[in-house]
Amino acid sequence: MWYDTPITSMLTITYPIIQAGMAGGVTTPQLVASVSNAGGLGSLGAGYMTPVQMQKAILDIKMLTTKPFAVNLFVPEDDPSSEESIANVQFKLQHFETELNISSQEQKRKSFIETQKDYQDKLQILIDEDVPVCSFTFGVPSKEDVSRLKTAEVIVMGTATTVEEARINEESGLDMVVMQGMEAGGHRGTFQADFEESLIGIASLIPQTVDAVNIPVIAAGGIMDGRGLLSMLALGADAVQMGTAFVTCQESGAHPLHQHAILTSKEDQTVVTPVFSGKPARGIKNDFITKMAGLESLPGYPTLNTLTKEIRKQAAIQKRPEWMSLWSGQSSRLSTTKSAREIIHDSVKQVNGLLGRFSTPSH
Ligand SMILES: Cc1cc2nc3c(=O)[nH]c(=O)nc-3n(C[C@H](O)[C@H](O)[C@H](O)COP(=O)(O)O)c2cc1C
Repeated sequence: MWYDTPITSMLTITYPIIQAGMAGGVTTPQLVASVSNAGGLGSLGAGYMTPVQMQKAILDIKMLTTKPFAVNLFVPEDDPSSEESIANVQFKLQHFETELNISSQEQKRKSFIETQKDYQDKLQILIDEDVPVCSFTFGVPSKEDVSRLKTAEVIVMGTATTVEEARINEESGLDMVVMQGMEAGGHRGTFQADFEESLIGIASLIPQTVDAVNIPVIAAGGIMDGRGLLSMLALGADAVQMGTAFVTCQESGAHPLHQHAILTSKEDQTVVTPVFSGKPARGIKNDFITKMAGLESLPGYPTLNTLTKEIRKQAAIQKRPEWMSLWSGQSSRLSTTKSAREIIHDSVKQVNGLLGRFSTPSH
């Protein structure tokens, strides 16, 4: 069948559809398990979780499915933010803090900043809990960590935004690589070159990558249904990874205002911006992005992410979507409120229909 690919056989899943690990509460255990139970690969976005929170979520997923699933982590990175950039941005953020009634006490409340030890603890939990697949973004895990996971028979998946980054993933021993096109919602996985030069459309990225590497390739960015799935398989990908499509689905943990923003937005309303976290990410343009634009020398990730955390949290509580991070890809017009199972099964049905049409002789 068309849906049997090297990736479905390596992951022992039925359909070549991966639900993106999305940190920040979108990927509930119910969502992850529903996707896996429907024949795809569900992924827990654990980038912002503490080791304890991640372990609890893994146990919850295991109660809901016996199928394979993935956990997605952020490769830790150094953040050389200058004191001056931190002071500049804190001054600018005061406006939002005042409007949202955030006291400086609250703002400074210590939030979870992952240390190397937390990250290593998470890797150990994945191994101890026999998690079948671990995916990474924001860089490539060290060769030692990759071999530690592989020795424990965890399948290791990387993220790349250019052919060169895909090569680095392959050389570092990763089993497969997610190619993130410029259409993609959420943070850019770019780690090697300038992020603007690494904004490559998915239709350019996939065929050039499959010609350059020998590991299986997964296409991500703007894929919402069977049309996107079939087109990516035709370009040489062995699976797709979908994020935005699952943000608005029934099992998603996304804030209803985030879901509403995606469901009512158009293809020209997203921008790639570093103003929420210090790392470029694609989301729906709103007042926060407009007001913060033009600020010179922003702190990097994760410093800025921590500095804006209380604002994003309070904006969500106080129903102010204009100050929330509304991550979305460019295909938001195709978003629906279906269940995760329906998204997968309708996509498969749509591919079957398209293949039937293509195979009918015209004369
Ligand atoms: C709300 C949201 C959160 C995301 N969080 C993560 C994450 O934690 N880790 C990750 O590897 N990718 C993350 N991504 C990016 C996805 O992996 C993927 O590249 C993207 O969703 C594909 O484009 P699409 O949103 O148009 O489907 C996120 C995407 C969205 C929309």
